[in-house]
Amino acid sequence: MTSLDLEFVRRQFPAFQDPQAAEWAYMENAGGSLVPSQVTDKLINFYTRTKVQPYAGYGPSDEAGAAMDRSHQLLAAAINADADEVSFGPSTTQNTYVMAQAMADDLSPGDKIIVTNQDHEANIGAWRRLENRGFSIKEWQVDPETGLLNPEDLYALIDKKTKLVCFTHCSNIAATINPVKAITRAVHDAGAIVVVDAVSYAPHHFADVKDLDVDFYLFSLYKTYGPHLGLIYGKREHMENISNQGHFFNQSKLGKRLTPAGPNHAEIACAGGIVDYFDDVYTHHFGNTRAGVRQRVEAVFNLFGEQEQQLMAPLMDCLNSKPAVKVVGLAVADHRLRAPTFAFYSNRIKSVDIAKALIAAKLGVGQDHFYAYRLIDTMGVDPGDGVVRLSLLHYNSSEDINRAVNVLDEIL
Ligand SMILES: Cc1ncc(COP(=O)(O)O)c(C=O)c1O
Repeated sequence: MTSLDLEFVRRQFPAFQDPQAAEWAYMENAGGSLVPSQVTDKLINFYTRTKVQPYAGYGPSDEAGAAMDRSHQLLAAAINADADEVSFGPSTTQNTYVMAQAMADDLSPGDKIIVTNQDHEANIGAWRRLENRGFSIKEWQVDPETGLLNPEDLYALIDKKTKLVCFTHCSNIAATINPVKAITRAVHDAGAIVVVDAVSYAPHHFADVKDLDVDFYLFSLYKTYGPHLGLIYGKREHMENISNQGHFFNQSKLGKRLTPAGPNHAEIACAGGIVDYFDDVYTHHFGNTRAGVRQRVEAVFNLFGEQEQQLMAPLMDCLNSKPAVKVVGLAVADHRLRAPTFAFYSNRIKSVDIAKALIAAKLGVGQDHFYAYRLIDTMGVDPGDGVVRLSLLHYNSSEDINRAVNVLDEIL
């Protein structure tokens, strides 16, 4: 069976070629991933050669527009959507904010919106604010011991007034994968729709949005090897009816309805480089086949997943062997059940001190509530100190993991 050629992968990322940057083990990937040259080259090309108003009908301008269109097409194909079902905004937080304004126009007073206390605030706060406009907000709550959501608790909350269920594919702290397809089916059966935050899931797997049958699906490209943009997938039937947040004369352009401001042309133009990176990984491992974009993406994420699976076990074993340490979410090293993101705290040592020791050993890690404030708070962890988070991606090496385990063994 083909396995990931890590040397090839790391060669694609300029950071691993830079002597100073390469001294670090990158383990705060849930905060933002490194970027491969397939993306940076396109960004530089845009700024140096085509940084003019796109779509104006002359050489560099048309080249700029074509690069932007290409990104729409490639990223849409990568998640099995149509190009005009995908829009780009500055970030997922701003995208949910705009979506909440749009959805509010179509709701009636008393309509119910369900949010969780497991999500990053991006998929909670924007919806909660709508309470001021007469909508009822209910919370699907985690088990405070584990930080996990139980779909049965959601089903008990849904009633005829429920119009929207906003939840995460995978929390940035609990890291456990929620059964999006089954939940979406149940929500649809009850006559409501879903808004899924896939920010912490997408770096580990680009899902097939048609297979999941989700209504809205959002993630941040700066965590999936790309520029600082947020991607919104909106199912065509919803995008055709959603209240237009863009200029009135752009009403008929689905991809502009949730984009009130002019988009970041350069970043959109280089975003297609994410799929080019996947494509180069595919060709390196499987040769030039006739597989389409979606098939290639699926094959590449299988390789990434196997690599991540191998990296997970020693870290999870290490953390599970420390009696004073609690890992948030399912504490199992199984890539099918969770992302390789390890958020933990100790009842002996402050998170800030654990993080300091890791950083001193040139491990790039994070310590915070990571904007999943409600989750941390519900679990009884001081949001001021938060959790330590080590979040891996396929480009991490077993040497990175050994370095982390050595430090953790010493201090925990
Ligand atoms: C799970 C999750 N959702 C949403 C966000 C917000 O994304 P953005 O920074 O693009 O607003 C983050 C950012 O860390 C996140 O981890």
